[in-house]
Amino acid sequence: MDPYYVTTPIYYVNDRPHIGHCYTTLIADVAARMHRLIGRDVFFLTGTDEHAEKVVAKALENGVSPQEWADRNAAEFKKAFAFMNFSNDDFVRTTESRHTTRAAAYIQKLVDSGDIELGDYEGWWDASQEEYVVENVAKEHDYKSPVTGRPLEKRTEQNYFFRLDHYAAWLEEQIADDAIRVLPEARKNEVLGRIRQGLQKVPVSRRIKEGDADWGVKMPNDPAHRVYVWIEALCNYLTVVDTDDRIKYWPADVHLMAKDILWFHAVIWPAMLKALGREAPRVIYAHAYFISEGRKMSKSLGNFIEIDQLRAYADRFSLDALRWFLSTQGPLGANDADFAYQRFVEVYNADLANGIGNATSRVSNMIAKYFEGKVPEPSDIVVPGESGLDPRDGTTGVAESFTGHAGAMRLGEALAMGTDRVSLVDRYINQTRPFSIAKQIDKGEHPEPLRGRAELGAILYTCAEALRIASLLLYPAMPEKMAELWRRWNCPHLVDPADCNSAFVAPLAELAQWGGRYGLKAGQEIAKGDALFMRADPAEPAPDAST
Ligand code: MSP
Repeated sequence: MDPYYVTTPIYYVNDRPHIGHCYTTLIADVAARMHRLIGRDVFFLTGTDEHAEKVVAKALENGVSPQEWADRNAAEFKKAFAFMNFSNDDFVRTTESRHTTRAAAYIQKLVDSGDIELGDYEGWWDASQEEYVVENVAKEHDYKSPVTGRPLEKRTEQNYFFRLDHYAAWLEEQIADDAIRVLPEARKNEVLGRIRQGLQKVPVSRRIKEGDADWGVKMPNDPAHRVYVWIEALCNYLTVVDTDDRIKYWPADVHLMAKDILWFHAVIWPAMLKALGREAPRVIYAHAYFISEGRKMSKSLGNFIEIDQLRAYADRFSLDALRWFLSTQGPLGANDADFAYQRFVEVYNADLANGIGNATSRVSNMIAKYFEGKVPEPSDIVVPGESGLDPRDGTTGVAESFTGHAGAMRLGEALAMGTDRVSLVDRYINQTRPFSIAKQIDKGEHPEPLRGRAELGAILYTCAEALRIASLLLYPAMPEKMAELWRRWNCPHLVDPADCNSAFVAPLAELAQWGGRYGLKAGQEIAKGDALFMRADPAEPAPDAST
């Protein structure tokens, strides 16, 4: 199997992390965990983008050096990501020399090849986004930032330029043919539309002015110029793996981000790579935004969902419940998604408390009661439900379908394979009524008690094994809770059962084999325990970060 490389944007360190940063990184984490489960060698990269002008401005405001400010907030990002249990293999900070030296070398190479050249530039500068806005877009937005609405400034300067215009035809072809897949589909059409309007050369540097903070990477051929932060930042995806032992991960399988920064990733970055003679990333995936209780989150409304609020949800419902809600209800598609408390409780109760949580305790309780906590014989008896319902159905194709969904970033569909199997088990129990069979045997009312006992065993084996397979599919979103279940049920899926982040002992195709080498064995002990998820009362007020 080929290695798998997934990235998130590297986040600005002018401020602390919030739900948006956590969301994209969570999606990357879920995708990374899915591919590790499938059996691929995964590299998952996230990090911080530190050389922005707004970092200098914030540092000044707070009376510290840019480096100190960056250190402080990079630490906040690391802390937030550890809290979210992200399994990133590395965390890059663009102030690290492993990044800056290689980024400078790429830029020198582009100067040498003539892809970067000196020229005059006059344009609309969006200080809030640290980017130039092209004339027609500036005009369309009344010369205000299309993202933040702040006024644009006219700037004229002598800059180095990247000849993006040389790559228009190549980009159009690559994207139209899905050699570089831009997803979701709606985003691909937008990008193609813009490319077809024509591409201009892109400024990649600014002349350093007197009094400018010494912050950022200088043009390697002309130290009077500083490399524009975006150009340097994009290089992180390559600088971090451009080493003998990591280059096997290039090209990236997926660059993840929200739609705000799609252009840089789908157009400028692939063109830079082409000019460098490197392969382009395979998928550029730009999701939509999280909004909060129906309203766009903004600094002025003060309604950003901060880490403290996420912590309050995790304290009440468990971290994995929060991860579940964000990853299944988030804006992974083309539409924005709402972070709303009532919806959270609904999803929590339906999928977790009444779903996997209830099904696993129901089955382990019955196994405790009727089989002394030991997995019963699977037996040859097949007991289908009333409508022929059988939780074994489709288990042979599980690894293949899951791999298909994960590879195409249909993470919701992949996870739904887990919840669907849980509901199947629920319906199967309701139809086959193992508790009634047990009661009949107990009271001496069963016409064939031996047969009844074998049937009871077969039903419970079927339920438990189906739930074991479901739990594998749910793991990427809920690693702690599923590892907890595997400890109780003695399932040997992880190299270190005590560590939910340890490697899998075998690929999904083997782990998910019904009654296979890693399947439940007759006689194996299954401990009951507290419910994995306690039911939530929707009448209770939302968790409050301040209490
Ligand atoms: N530093 C640049 C990225 C450089 S990548 C080479 C940057 N940083 S950022 O801190 O502003 O992060 C933007 C990203 O944060 C978005 O693309 C998205 O991944 C995430 N989100 C920020 N707000 C968000 C929401 N409200 N909802 C979902 N994700 C959002 O841009």
